[in-house]
Amino acid sequence: MSLQETFTLHNGIQVPKVGLGVYKMNDDEEVIGAVQSALDIGYRHIDTASFYDNEKGVGTAIKDSGIPREELFVVTKVWNDEQGYEETLQAFERSMDKLGLDYLDLYLVHWPVPGKYTDTWKALEKLYKDGKVKAIGVCNFMEHHLDELMASAEIKPMVNQVEFHPRLYQKDLADYCAEHHIQLEAWAPLGRGKYFDASALKEAAERHDKTPAQVILRWHLQHDVMIIPKSSNADRQKQNADLFDFELTEAEMQDIDGLNKNERIGKHPDEFDY
Ligand code: A2P
Repeated sequence: MSLQETFTLHNGIQVPKVGLGVYKMNDDEEVIGAVQSALDIGYRHIDTASFYDNEKGVGTAIKDSGIPREELFVVTKVWNDEQGYEETLQAFERSMDKLGLDYLDLYLVHWPVPGKYTDTWKALEKLYKDGKVKAIGVCNFMEHHLDELMASAEIKPMVNQVEFHPRLYQKDLADYCAEHHIQLEAWAPLGRGKYFDASALKEAAERHDKTPAQVILRWHLQHDVMIIPKSSNADRQKQNADLFDFELTEAEMQDIDGLNKNERIGKHPDEFDY
């Protein structure tokens, strides 16, 4: 079943290529329902963050599912005002209490807070060495942040989760991550559904009898990018996982690459109001 296809991180840990993102699912009912239906469909990778304020709901849905812990891949992130060495260790415990888990699969630094992220990283290295988390990584890091982090890091990040979609095809960053064996992961992989009507997407969708959303997600996979499309709707969750029975041609990939406008939905990591 396709939801079991994995990428292998540089420390050997396997991560399902497609996960469920739960950003903006604030109320318990929505997040519990969304995680339950995703787990029923076969998703095993769930991506939350302390900032989303829904770790408790994610934990409840996981517990109620009865799925063995080792079959799941659970991700959360340390928020900007929780960064620093001691602060991060404490933030991790808060997240674990809310999730109701005794180990985490992947812990991420949510944004490169200037002056803080190298200390935050030291805390992640400690959590990793202590066996509390199976893999560690960052989000929204550009090449210069990664250069700085790796200059003092003992352990290289295993993942970099950034805004990435056809309107923001960050090819240089993707190449940098590939060169350093850092798995690139896309947030807002669908570009929040804002440009499904682009002709390169609509035409490829017609040719393959898929939807523009599925074409975008397939484009990510063919660029070796891990994805966490967000949907609260079971039919769309199913659609977003049904990506493994077609392949975009080289020409289609290039047409979709050509949609890039360096256009962000979120903040530029160097301009965020930290
Ligand atoms: P919904 O939760 O109602 O399905 P992104 O992952 O880029 O942040 O995009 C998420 C947005 O795209 C949400 O508004 C979600 O709405 C919508 N969405 C998710 N999957 C699909 C799909 N397969 N087709 C259309 N819209 C989708």
